[in-house]
Amino acid sequence: MKPVEIKKDVFWVGAVDFGCHNFHGYSIAPRGTTYNSYLVRDQKNVLFDTVQAHHAEDMLTRLRQVIDPEKIDYIVVNHLELDHAGALAELVRVCRPEKIYCSSLGLKSMAGYFNMSGWPVQAVKTGDTINIGRRNIHFVETRMLHWPDSMFSYLPEDKLLISNDAFGQNVAAGCRFADEFPRAELERAIEEYYYNIVLPFSPQVLKTLALAAELKLDIDMIAPDHGFIFRGREEVSYILEKYRALAEQKPAKKALIFYDTMWHSTEKLAYYVGCGLESVGVPYRVMFLKNHHHSEVQTELARCGAVIAGSPTHNNGILPPVAALLTYMKGLRPLNRLGAAFGSYGWSGESVKVLHEWLAGMGMDMPAEPVKCAWSPDRPALDAAFALGRKVGEALAAKCGADCK
Ligand code: FEO
Repeated sequence: MKPVEIKKDVFWVGAVDFGCHNFHGYSIAPRGTTYNSYLVRDQKNVLFDTVQAHHAEDMLTRLRQVIDPEKIDYIVVNHLELDHAGALAELVRVCRPEKIYCSSLGLKSMAGYFNMSGWPVQAVKTGDTINIGRRNIHFVETRMLHWPDSMFSYLPEDKLLISNDAFGQNVAAGCRFADEFPRAELERAIEEYYYNIVLPFSPQVLKTLALAAELKLDIDMIAPDHGFIFRGREEVSYILEKYRALAEQKPAKKALIFYDTMWHSTEKLAYYVGCGLESVGVPYRVMFLKNHHHSEVQTELARCGAVIAGSPTHNNGILPPVAALLTYMKGLRPLNRLGAAFGSYGWSGESVKVLHEWLAGMGMDMPAEPVKCAWSPDRPALDAAFALGRKVGEALAAKCGADCK
């Protein structure tokens, strides 16, 4: 894959990783990802971010097509997580830059990851600007979007925002621009990335969007460090508004039912919960956790205002796949959801209480009493599951009201 000139004298020189299918528990199979790195040629030549360590040679091969790496004067490290900084030591060795810029907290992780002996590092903060000839680079710290060290680099003369992890998507593809990729797939990739990485930092997203407006950043291209680049005002507005909507988490009139089952009793209840939702016109999706990775279920939350969890009782608790999903989901801190629980049991029957507590513990409103049934669900148990679905559906429709997305 060749370098791509995304603006005059600004080149994408990153790497495309078709084989990466897991990011710290977030499954990105089967799409893979990209590590975007950008080179700006000016009086001072600047490289923004690097790639995973094992893609260093790939990146250097690409870089050499547009510049002799020894002519790179500055390296800007917007974020020290190793998908972007993994190749930093190799790049420093080859380029021998005059300066390496990062945030003050980036300095801390840099020292933790690398032997920085002799590295000409300088910490920068929001408001700091460097001139590189025909251009300036403004630094904007974006703490907790998504690490404490994260920052943006803004090039006003190019109206270009290099946004690091923000606005990214995990997609490995042959094209570099968002407008070259099918929109529905892109939309899903943005939601997946947001709900599996950025969601806990939604308050910071809203703060950053407000800061960008306050700083009056004139942007006609957003170049994230993963996935596609948004070019043109329309595309920039699209991704900014998409992020605003994802961060606001307004209720969506759709319910997610997920469950695991031992002998199909909890599964039967799940289907009757769905029928109850359907009876009040609320769309839903049922996900059997043996068929879906937890990050796929988490992504579905982007379009669901209610979370209905099912598990039979297992060792006085819940089945492990349900516990794993709830642990993952809790860490990602979804807000503004309704919750409900159901499940079957043979002897002791604790599962619905455990599920109810998990969901309530995530701050979900619980409009219906949990439904549990012994052994195989009989008519009253199926009716109770139907009633649970109906009650959650009515509550969700009322909550959404005019504010529904
Ligand atoms: Fe893409 Fe936080 O690294």
